[in-house]
Amino acid sequence: MLKIENLHAFYGKSHILHGVDMEVNPGEIVSLLGRNGSGRSTTIKAIMGLVDGHGSVKWNDKELLGDKPYDIARRGIGYVPESRDVFPKLTVEQNLLLGQKGGAKNSRWSLDDMYQMFPRLKERQHTEAGVMSGGEQQMLTLCRTLMGDPDLIMIDEPTEGLAPKIVELVGEYLKELKRRGLGVLLVEQKLTIALDISQRCYVMGHGEVVFQGTPDELRADKYVRKEWLEV
Ligand SMILES: Nc1ncnc2c1ncn2[C@@H]1O[C@H](COP(=O)(O)OP(=O)(O)O)[C@@H](O)[C@H]1O
Ligand SMILES: [Mg+2]
Repeated sequence: MLKIENLHAFYGKSHILHGVDMEVNPGEIVSLLGRNGSGRSTTIKAIMGLVDGHGSVKWNDKELLGDKPYDIARRGIGYVPESRDVFPKLTVEQNLLLGQKGGAKNSRWSLDDMYQMFPRLKERQHTEAGVMSGGEQQMLTLCRTLMGDPDLIMIDEPTEGLAPKIVELVGEYLKELKRRGLGVLLVEQKLTIALDISQRCYVMGHGEVVFQGTPDELRADKYVRKEWLEV
């Protein structure tokens, strides 16, 4: 389980996060909502050790802050950044295999699992990743991260720029991860999908958590939606 307490984060001298508290449990989808610039990406980058953070980020009771991104990933935290960073000159299959870590034998995911979840990737297994559509690259980035067998996956705006049908599919896949026991921390702009699939949500504003509760509580909270979410 991931437990964040009083997390502050900085880009150089800019103080961006001001004491964030948050939790993600196994088998739970938690969405992290907020307007652009509210600090959502910075929160997950700080968890991954990609920005300078202070406070506490505990993963199964052990402190992560101060560890290198690579070590944090090895401890079971997968990160799918906003930028769909596939290796463009490698094939889909090569990209997936690169996601495997040392002891891939015991991974809960195989190549075939990925191809079953996303038949489109199987059709394109020998295609160079760089020529695929944005949606396909997004699926590939997610699958490559899964191949590393994380216990928690943090996904930054996976549905950005995707057609509504694909957005629905992404939602289904995230629910499948939850069914397999993963924790999911989902950064989203799209309230509908986030509220549909998550069990709890946090709303951020100006680098702080301004709301936490269930999707139903958020739906009912007109003030929070108007003040911190609607544009
Ligand atoms: N690399 C950076 N250097 C300096 N400031 C940044 C950088 N990245 C983001 N910021 C600032 O941090 C704040 C939070 O950004 P971010 O976490 O990306 O928000 P969100 O993901 O919610 O849109 C914004 O004010 C943004 O301008
Ligand atoms: Mg962001």
